[in-house]
Amino acid sequence: MKRLENKVAIITGAASGFGAVDAKLFAKEGAKIVLTDINEENLKQVAEQIIQDGGIAIYATLNVTSPYDWQKVVEKTTTEFGGIDILVNNAGIASYSSFMESDYDTFKKIMDVNLNSQYLGIKAVAPAMM
Ligand SMILES: NC(=O)c1ccc[n+]([C@@H]2O[C@H](COP(=O)([O-])OP(=O)(O)OC[C@H]3O[C@@H](n4cnc5c(N)ncnc54)[C@H](O)[C@@H]3O)[C@@H](O)[C@H]2O)c1
Repeated sequence: MKRLENKVAIITGAASGFGAVDAKLFAKEGAKIVLTDINEENLKQVAEQIIQDGGIAIYATLNVTSPYDWQKVVEKTTTEFGGIDILVNNAGIASYSSFMESDYDTFKKIMDVNLNSQYLGIKAVAPAMM
């Protein structure tokens, strides 16, 4: 038996990088995947690849800073797959400027995407998990 057989996983930032790799690995282990990201074109490609390789995947655009987007993804996931078992809060951004060159707006955006989104995601998904 595969390690994630019958599990449903939402993965954020799944259009590239670690998120896309996680999605492919989880699918190989039997999970049904909901790929999410702000980059719809890449999301579609990753989903198609997973399906071609025999996995089960759907995708939805999700900006992790939007409570509305989170609600839509939870609704889509529960409608399509009947529940949620796993949330991978992977989406993130970085700034490579030095502290002295940095600006507050960029800092706040990074906090929103990398930190505050964790609260929004868990808050949206937890009722379906419970
Ligand atoms: N690559 C590294 O060396 C490294 C090291 C430590 C931590 N991380 C963290 O791992 C995670 C993934 O990194 P990666 O290297 O795969 O990055 P990546 O840039 O390849 O992928 C990040 C994905 O997040 C998406 N994204 C950005 N903003 C978003 C938003 N508001 N809502 C939804 N999706 C959004 C992007 O479109 C992209 O597809 C990030 O959180 C990053 O900070 C990466």
